[in-house]
Amino acid sequence: MSDTFDVIVIGGGPGGYVCAIRAAQLGLKTACVENRGTLGGTCLNVGCIPSKAMLQSSHLFEEANHSFATHGIKVSKVELDLATMLARKDDVVKQNTTGIEFLFKKNKVTYIKGTGKIAKAVTGAHQVAVKGLDGTDSTYTAKYVVIATGSEVTPLPGITIDEKQIVSSTGALTLAKVPKSMVVIGGGVIGLEMGSVWRRLGAIVTVVEFLDFIMPPMDGEVRKQMQRILEKQGMKFMLGQKVTKAVPGKDGVTLTVEPAKGGAATEMKADVVLVAVGRRPFTNGLGLVEAGVKMTNRGFVEADTHYQTNIEGIFAIGDVIGGMMLAHKAEDEGVAVAELCAGQTAHINYDAIASVVYTWPEVAGVGKTEEQLKEAGVAYKVGKFPFTANSRARSNGDMDGFVKILADATTDRVLGCHIIGPSGGDLIMEVALGMEFGASAEDIARTCHAHPQLGEAVKEAALNVDKRAIHI
Ligand code: NAI
Repeated sequence: MSDTFDVIVIGGGPGGYVCAIRAAQLGLKTACVENRGTLGGTCLNVGCIPSKAMLQSSHLFEEANHSFATHGIKVSKVELDLATMLARKDDVVKQNTTGIEFLFKKNKVTYIKGTGKIAKAVTGAHQVAVKGLDGTDSTYTAKYVVIATGSEVTPLPGITIDEKQIVSSTGALTLAKVPKSMVVIGGGVIGLEMGSVWRRLGAIVTVVEFLDFIMPPMDGEVRKQMQRILEKQGMKFMLGQKVTKAVPGKDGVTLTVEPAKGGAATEMKADVVLVAVGRRPFTNGLGLVEAGVKMTNRGFVEADTHYQTNIEGIFAIGDVIGGMMLAHKAEDEGVAVAELCAGQTAHINYDAIASVVYTWPEVAGVGKTEEQLKEAGVAYKVGKFPFTANSRARSNGDMDGFVKILADATTDRVLGCHIIGPSGGDLIMEVALGMEFGASAEDIARTCHAHPQLGEAVKEAALNVDKRAIHI
């Protein structure tokens, strides 16, 4: 089979499939090459979506076990049916991935099932070779090629992931029984989300983190309070420690742990070990070097502010170019590239991209942290409001956390917002939208917020930037 397209996207994850749909919407003849067998990439298949299904199920399990009684709901015996929980998660994934296939059909995107590589870089007619999932070889031509191949788990020296006893985020989504003990290596997003799932379902979870704090990119105050909340929930932390060895055996995994700054090693045991120390760009077998595409020294594809590589007409988006490794960042870059290919202009305001950790309570941040503002020497004001003082949070029985808004000391413009709280990931979006429009704290404070809502905590934090919150 051979065909010519305006745009060929390599990779059908959130960056790639969104790019393909947008390009097709704009009238470009578009194909998307994907070798997983299903669309949606890591996020839909083995990342964001299945983990959220498990977070929701395990949250309900924990609520039934520990919170129902306080609401006056008596349940005689709460039992875990893990097989059903896992099957539900798989079903959620299937509904989402087949949904994208439907969207491809609706938008007339050609879905090419196979592994794509750049066979030849020719301005105006790049060639993409595809080894089909059925074993056939094909070559396609496109004016524009978009690399959207995402990222893969960063391995840890001395540790072999077998996806049974020593698992990555993928294996952590399919454990057939609840381990008695789990060691999570890495106190980042995956470690805390998947660690929360298995702790709620009954495992004793210990997080071993290299740094002296968890969730490195988040605001310092948020990091500290969230650690306290997770400890209160029963999660254990070993900070400033690194795992140098993990040996699986019949009675669990034996781990060797050393202080990050040097010192005597100790041993510990766990039924299951989750390795979650970050992700690295995936570029294997793409023919990028042969095609002359420049890479950074950390293995990312080098792209300019318009996502174009050093080769005209070859673009790259999402995790493979680095920056925030977030599905929604990749999606927006996908839209931007499609619009650029259609001759439009595109711009993404990276300062208004929120990141969310789906623990309970959720952790969400957008814009600058206090640490970043201090380092940049920016004079700023802080407005904070705790959920203990929010009537809806009290009604719901979910009062852990706060909203913190950082605003420029002179102009009052919102520079950042950091939330620990129930549905923090939803609450942050009004601030992200505000920041996109250049809002001041006063703008948010003067926006009438419906009562009784968790969002009133955002308004009160904005009021408190000038120390005039009403409810504290
Ligand atoms: P991460 O970068 O969030 O966290 C990795 C953690 O491991 C860091 O705290 C780091 O200091 C620590 N670490 C590194 N080497 C270590 C060692 N040898 N021993 C102990 N600790 C060590 O990476 P994570 O959690 O693996 O997630 C990967 C990517 O996926 C991230 O970029 C994340 O943003 C993304 N993701 C996003 C989600 C969301 O938006 N809710 C959910 C899951 C993943």
